[in-house]
Amino acid sequence: MNLYHQHSLKELNTFGIEARTATYIEYHSTEELCRVLQDPAIQAQPILHIGAGSNLLFMEDFSGTVLHSGIKGIEIVGETAEWIDVAVGAGVIWDDWVVYSIEKGWYGIENLSIIPGEVGASAVQNIGAYGVEAKDVIRTVHTIEIATATPRIFSVEECQYAYRSSIFKHAYRGKYIVTKVVFRLQKQAQYVLEYGNVRTQLEKEGKALNAQNLREVIIGMRESKLPDPAIIGNGGSFFMNPIVPIALFQTLQETYSTIPHYPAGEGLVKIPAGWLIEQAGWKGKNLGEAGVYEKQALVLINRGNATGKDIWNLATAIIEDIAKKFHITLHPEVNLIGSKGYL
Ligand code: EPU
Repeated sequence: MNLYHQHSLKELNTFGIEARTATYIEYHSTEELCRVLQDPAIQAQPILHIGAGSNLLFMEDFSGTVLHSGIKGIEIVGETAEWIDVAVGAGVIWDDWVVYSIEKGWYGIENLSIIPGEVGASAVQNIGAYGVEAKDVIRTVHTIEIATATPRIFSVEECQYAYRSSIFKHAYRGKYIVTKVVFRLQKQAQYVLEYGNVRTQLEKEGKALNAQNLREVIIGMRESKLPDPAIIGNGGSFFMNPIVPIALFQTLQETYSTIPHYPAGEGLVKIPAGWLIEQAGWKGKNLGEAGVYEKQALVLINRGNATGKDIWNLATAIIEDIAKKFHITLHPEVNLIGSKGYL
C-alpha cells in the first residue's frame, strides 16, 4: 500500500488540473482496501475513489482520502464452446484488457479500443463507443461497501445500466468500490459495424474484417477527433448526448434539416451534443484557459493552466447558450469533484 499526504492530483486527472488531496492511498488487494476502510480516521473524512482520472474535473482541493486501485490480474472463471467468462482487476488499464482479449481471440470489446481509464470505472460509467457499451459484456461486478468494508457482488441487472449510467452513479454513488469485473466474451466473431462510419472506414482502408483491423480502424477514428490527454488536457466527451422528446426534435428539424439523430427508445431521440455546440458557434473558442476542441466540439480542453472552475465556467456558458438556442439542457458526462466529493 502506498500512502501520501498533501498529494498533487495533477498527474492523476487527464484534464491536468492542479488540485491536492489531504491523503492519497493506492492499495493492491481487496484485503488492503478493507484494512484502509476499517480505519476510523479514514472513515471520519470524505472518501473519493478514482480510476485513471479520465472523467473527473477537480473544482478545488480534496479534503479527505483519494483511493486508487492497484488490483491487477486477468483470470478465466468459466467457459463453454461459445463464450468465456473472465474476471479482470479494477486497476487494470482498460485498453490493456482490450488488447489481451483480442490476442486471445475473444470477441466483444474491440469497438471499445483505446478508451482511456481503468476496468473498475468502465463498470461504473458504462463506457461506450461505436455501438458497444460495457454493459453488453459485463456479467457481474465485485465490490466492497465503503461504510462496512464488506464484499457485495452485483449482477448486471442489479447495476441498472443505461447510457453512461449505472446504480454506482446514482443511488449508490460513493457507496461501493469496484474490485473486479467479470466479462463474458464470445469465442466466435460477432462484430458491431453499423455505428457511424465503422464499416465504410474498414472498406475504405481495404482491410479484411478481423478484430485487430477493427481495432486499428477504431483507433484511427478516435485519434482523428479526440485529443491525446498526454498532450492536451481533456476528459473526453464533456457532456452526454441529450435525449429529447421526438416533438422537440421535429421542431428543430424544420430549421436544421440535416440535424444528426439516433433513436433512443419510444418517442425519444438522441441528438449529438457536439453538433449542437458546433452549430451554436463554440467550436475552437476559448474562455480564459479553457477551450472547445477544434476537431470535436463535445470535448472541452485545458489550454495550459486552466483550473476546474475555468473549465466549468466555459461549460456553464455553453449550457446556457444551448438552452437558449435549442431548448435543450446539456448535462455533464464528466464528474465534478468538490472538497468533500461529488458535486
Ligand atoms: N458532430 C458535429 N460537430 C462536432 C462533433 C460532432 O457536428 O464538433 C456530429 C458528427 O458529425 C456526428 C455526431 O455529431 O454526426 C456524432 O459525433 P461522434 O461520432 O464524434 O460522436 P459523439 O456523439 O460526439 C459519442 C461518445 C464518445 C464516443 C463516440 C463514438 C458520448 C457523450 N460520447 O460521441 O464517447 O467515442 O460517440 O461512439 O456519448 C466519451 O464518452 O468520453 C466519448 C469520447
